[in-house]
Amino acid sequence: MIARCKKLSAALILFLAMALTSCSEKFDYDKGASMTGGNPQAGMEKIILHDCHSCHVIPGIPINRDSRGPALKHWASHTMIAKKWPNTPENLEDFIEHPERMLHGTGLKSEMTMSNVKPGDAKDIAAYLFSIE
Ligand code: HEC
Repeated sequence: MIARCKKLSAALILFLAMALTSCSEKFDYDKGASMTGGNPQAGMEKIILHDCHSCHVIPGIPINRDSRGPALKHWASHTMIAKKWPNTPENLEDFIEHPERMLHGTGLKSEMTMSNVKPGDAKDIAAYLFSIE
């Protein structure tokens, strides 16, 4: 009974957290889709699938564990990616697919260890990120 209660309150906390984040954030899916040619809705699922939210606080995605990476709030108005590349759809997709390659030779060391993000997935993820106003 106690275990059931704990599960219920965990679900409630998650729901409240989602309700709170969705209040303070705005999304423009049309903009994200037209900038990248990707699908922001699918991108949201792929962000969860690739566990991006285990390191990043991402608006509209429930917070998962700690956050080692920078928060990706208001992504559409960011000018740079990792303080190094202009924040264009092409560069963002490239970065998501190959964070190691992008940082190679720059003297920076990427802590992003995820792999296997396919081009189609990166496009949808970029579409979602560019929807975050
Ligand atoms: C293991 C932790 C980790 C995971 C998992 C991770 N990231 Fe990152 N990410 C980082 C760190 C740390 C940085 C800071 C720059 C660097 O080291 O590459 C970063 C930087 C970024 C940036 C640039 C942020 C800025 O302010 O310019 C974006 C965009 C990004 N990550 C997207 C993603 C996406 C999308 C995924 C999932 C496919 C992902 N990350 C998964 C740790 C992570």
